[in-house]
Amino acid sequence: PRVAVVFGGRSSEHGISVVTAGAVLRAIDRTRYDVLPIGITRDGRWALTADEPDRMAITERRTPDVEELAESDEGGVMLPIDPGNREVVYSEPGSVPKALGEVDVVFPVLHGPYGEDGTLQGLLELSGVPYVGSGVLASAVGQDKEYMKRVFTSFGLKVGPYVVIRPREWERDVFAARKKIVDFAGQHGWPLFVKPARAGSSIGITKVDDLSGLDDAIAEAQRHDPKVLVEAALHGREIECGVLEFEDGPRASLPSEIPPPDAHAYYDFEAKYIDSTPGIVPAPLTPEETAEVQRLAVDAFEAASCEGLVRADFFLTDDGFVINEINTMPGMTPISMYPQMWQASGLSYPELVEELIRAALR
Ligand code: DAL
Ligand code: MG
Repeated sequence: PRVAVVFGGRSSEHGISVVTAGAVLRAIDRTRYDVLPIGITRDGRWALTADEPDRMAITERRTPDVEELAESDEGGVMLPIDPGNREVVYSEPGSVPKALGEVDVVFPVLHGPYGEDGTLQGLLELSGVPYVGSGVLASAVGQDKEYMKRVFTSFGLKVGPYVVIRPREWERDVFAARKKIVDFAGQHGWPLFVKPARAGSSIGITKVDDLSGLDDAIAEAQRHDPKVLVEAALHGREIECGVLEFEDGPRASLPSEIPPPDAHAYYDFEAKYIDSTPGIVPAPLTPEETAEVQRLAVDAFEAASCEGLVRADFFLTDDGFVINEINTMPGMTPISMYPQMWQASGLSYPELVEELIRAALR
């Protein structure tokens, strides 16, 4: 079968996507699959790229970029969509290369808006091409922190306290919106975490210690999404768990624990990818706690109607496990928790990639 690995994309997680794609390209069994690497630039142009996973890594604290892969003068990096033409040929922004119609399965290694949020999934549904991972609804639910919490709550999963600030609320009556947040802080205490409702990799998130930092934090979050979530700080251990869909249904991996980073206020972008605080796999939990978080992770997978895979992130608080979020296309860089949790559970990275493609083709 022919697999298109689609990566990069228009979201702020572009770079992480390229790194994950490099790892996936390296791991795909080339004796079974014919591979087509397709990069999407930050402004939405699609192009066939060369199959050079070694160039798709973090170097000098910087993540790679589809545009740079294309425009490097090292030669021959970006292949034309039309193999007879040696020039780099991009599709029009937002349109899909013809090559996509000729693949058996798409592996959308994309994080965040325009990739992990159901938009690309909708395009693939319309095109009739099978793809790895969740469908339109689960992807959209997993991308929107408000609706994710609403779905979890309705399925009996515990979520942390939050308030939503809608774009019109902030525009129309900033004083009322501020008061809503201050009242919320009165109930749950400072600090608060101000987040774009739809983003990932901790991008656009600010920890706010008092009222004075609020407006800047909202503005920063709104740069990524006009809808903003304000969350209370959750006190507890950060525990993550992977779910993978096998032929007989979804199963949970061993969980991992993200230790509190010293130099960072929370698990932010730099802690995640650049300074890479190593996670502990498996998480040092009791057998009962491990079984419980695994059950909750599968519940979260089912609650959002996920397919293929999900990484569910929890806090283990005095009040038990509280679900923070799910990621329907979790980072799968070589240091990412999702592949490491499966590795610890007895599934190597190439085996994981094989399961994912197989699930998409089922
Ligand atoms: N959103 C990033 C890629 C993750 O959750 O792994
Ligand atoms: Mg995320």
